[in-house]
Amino acid sequence: MEVIPPDIQAFAEKYTTPETDLLYRLHRETYLKVEQPHMLSGHLQGRFLTMISQMIRPRRILEIGTYTGYSAICLAQGLTDDGHLHTIDVNEELETLSAKYIAAAGLKDKITQHTGKASEIIPGLQEVFDLVFIDADKAGYEGYYDQVWERLRPGGFILADNVLYHGEVVLPENEQSNNAKAMIRFAQKAVTDNRAETLLLSLRDGVLMIRKKTH
Ligand SMILES: C[S@@+](CC[C@H](N)C(=O)[O-])C[C@H]1O[C@@H](n2cnc3c(N)ncnc32)[C@H](O)[C@@H]1O
Repeated sequence: MEVIPPDIQAFAEKYTTPETDLLYRLHRETYLKVEQPHMLSGHLQGRFLTMISQMIRPRRILEIGTYTGYSAICLAQGLTDDGHLHTIDVNEELETLSAKYIAAAGLKDKITQHTGKASEIIPGLQEVFDLVFIDADKAGYEGYYDQVWERLRPGGFILADNVLYHGEVVLPENEQSNNAKAMIRFAQKAVTDNRAETLLLSLRDGVLMIRKKTH
């Protein structure tokens, strides 16, 4: 089930700067060669991630869930000159494809790809992040929130994808999948955290924006 009606989605895309040629090719290759291509952020969300990153101008970005590298390339567009993005994915089969496009985008020195379980890799990252994008296993979101919180600078942002989970979050509880239930628990955790401010954007599958308060 799509949350946004297709004609509204098409209208929104029409008035959004088109994908770059490189991202269009990555999109195509993902759909031709990789399982579950709907996981890729795509045109509208990709432009959103770029716009947000260009507004924040982050020095350090953490992405949890690289997949084929689409969102990492979008997020990296706003990095400062000395900025760096760390991205994590458990699926090593995707690494060659994502690395190929990251290099083609001229971002080889700006993006470090980590392969393994995010919960095991995050503790080893000695960084203070300005922006974190959570887009991996839904059952893991609450744990990732706790893990990244101390590494997020005050005033920094977490963006979490798929929080509307195909609209399942508003179905009766007995019709919700475990993933939808995990998204509700995650959103509840963030909105009741007095250290945070939240905004749930009904963009594509729902992006929860979380800001770490400064005081
Ligand atoms: C929705 S896709 C990410 C899409 C990508 N961010 C984009 O917008 O193009 C989710 C990814 O999370 C990865 N993943 C799932 N569980 C994970 C875990 N425990 N640790 C790290 N990555 C994981 C999957 O292999 C998959 O590639």
